[in-house]
Amino acid sequence: MEIIVKDTVEEMSQVAARVVAKTLNAKPDAVLGLATGSTPLGLYQELVRMHQAEGLDFSQVTTFHLDAYVGLKQKHPQSYHYFMDENLFRHINIPHQNVYIPSGTTDNYEAFCKWYEQRIVECGGIDLQVLGIGTDGHIAFNEPSSSLGSRTRIKTLAKQTIDDNARFFESPDEVPVYAITMGVGTILEAERIILLAHGKHKSDAVAKAIEGPVTSMITASALQLHPDVLFIIDREAASSLDMLEYYEWIQDKMPDAP
Ligand code: GLP
Repeated sequence: MEIIVKDTVEEMSQVAARVVAKTLNAKPDAVLGLATGSTPLGLYQELVRMHQAEGLDFSQVTTFHLDAYVGLKQKHPQSYHYFMDENLFRHINIPHQNVYIPSGTTDNYEAFCKWYEQRIVECGGIDLQVLGIGTDGHIAFNEPSSSLGSRTRIKTLAKQTIDDNARFFESPDEVPVYAITMGVGTILEAERIILLAHGKHKSDAVAKAIEGPVTSMITASALQLHPDVLFIIDREAASSLDMLEYYEWIQDKMPDAP
């Protein structure tokens, strides 16, 4: 695992955007795994800027999305379809048919989940997966006790996640209780993974993910099993790391740091 600590959210987002851009420059038809939530917003803004100002091309890119709330229609302002359209897709040149977001309104979830997994494989697998982290240490919606071998499926959201995400809804009662999410096993099959986190409220989850034991109680800790993971975090999110000085020493010596 590599850990890059930046002073600001803007710098964190720029580093992440450079990693994405490098992937697309090396492989214009790359398959990206993308996350929602407030964390990657700066990354998406930077990608939009790179597209508009520098011609970063998404015309051959395919994207798969980590998760979606069950029960929210695509047009719901809190649906992850809506989120991705607003924050990224309508500003770049990605073909609509290359975007795969789990359906929160299918009438056959089991079949959908199977199809989604199969589609990832048919598209050649995910080249670069972008992740955030929940305050309970989840990746996607793989809540504590999710199997580290899990695949795309329905999950019941933890109370902590519902409370965390209530800020986006008019009241906590409106937050869906179920989500459809890629599994930990699905995520671990990506070629390369970057996890972004900022803010003091993420520091405990980040420390457990990086320095804690691998446990299904903190599903982000499963990333320790992956051969190519880069954490890009701000100083506040890094503030509970015991070995921070060590990571910064390594970071200074990274030959081609993004
Ligand atoms: C959400 C999403 C995750 C996201 C995380 C953090 O519930 N399912 O994919 O990474 O929780 O969200 P935020 O970036 O808003 O803090």
